[in-house]
Amino acid sequence: MSERFTGRTALVTGGGSGIGAALTRALVAAGARVHCADIDAEAAARVAAAATGPGSAIGVELDVTDAAAVEAAVAAAEPLDLLFNNAGIVIGGPTEELTLDQWNRIIDINLRGVVHGIQAAYPRMIAAGSGHIVNTASAAGLMASGLLTSYCATKFAVVGLSEALRTEAVHHGIGVTVVCPSAVETPILDSTTGSRFAGRSFFLGAENTERAYSPDRLAADVLTAVARNRARVVVPARTRAGWVIGRIAPGFLARRTARYVRTQFTSAPNPESPVQPR
Ligand SMILES: NC(=O)c1ccc[n+]([C@@H]2O[C@H](COP(=O)([O-])OP(=O)(O)OC[C@H]3O[C@@H](n4cnc5c(N)ncnc54)[C@H](O)[C@@H]3O)[C@@H](O)[C@H]2O)c1
Repeated sequence: MSERFTGRTALVTGGGSGIGAALTRALVAAGARVHCADIDAEAAARVAAAATGPGSAIGVELDVTDAAAVEAAVAAAEPLDLLFNNAGIVIGGPTEELTLDQWNRIIDINLRGVVHGIQAAYPRMIAAGSGHIVNTASAAGLMASGLLTSYCATKFAVVGLSEALRTEAVHHGIGVTVVCPSAVETPILDSTTGSRFAGRSFFLGAENTERAYSPDRLAADVLTAVARNRARVVVPARTRAGWVIGRIAPGFLARRTARYVRTQFTSAPNPESPVQPR
């Protein structure tokens, strides 16, 4: 495995926390030179400093919504072998309560951020004749869920973008992998951006589990997938099983999800809403 990563240069967005931090640690341990980029410069620097070799890491301040800044970050990492478009946020809650600012923000970070990374790195990888792009989507990019509409919209888009690009990039010697985990133990689980529905109990309850997946285990899964040039990482196994069932019987999965969404409405009603769930 370390043969695939030793001496390679990688850029990880959202590297200051959670999955991006775990990817940074795993890449450095596998011998890569990592540009650990995050809008939170201090967090990125902390993660980079704590990662232990044989590779190395530097922290970089980067807002993925800024196309010119992403271009500059990719240029600074040249020759870039591995791009991890990982930065993302979650916004939960009833769709009628989302503001247009929230829609724009999640599209800007979760979708445009990935586009900016590809726009900057892919032509360079084509010129080099090699490279690998890893996009962190989510299980919510494979299986739709109410109360997560804006998140699902961006993550389905990232899955579609990744799968489409993979069939094109192969002709340039470039790999593309999309990462689709369900709940992973990171601060995003406790994010309550704008709604009483977002949060740990919602995500874990949807999977009927009390424990989220380990980010370090996910990072190891991702590096294995890159080394084997796999199209997607869907973890844990129960999520993979749910996804397969959903492909065979989409109506069954949709009804099960609708029932879960209803329990959420009932346990956290909005007394101000003129319309109560039926
Ligand atoms: N944790 C989960 O349960 C889970 C499950 C599936 C998918 N994901 C996806 O994994 C990715 C990483 O999330 P995480 O769980 O590690 O969350 P996290 O909150 O721990 O980390 C996200 C990082 O992205 C950074 N970030 C936010 N906006 C940014 C911007 N504009 N530019 C650059 N960096 C920015 C944050 O500062 C943070 O360090 C996200 O795309 C998320 O949607 C997470």
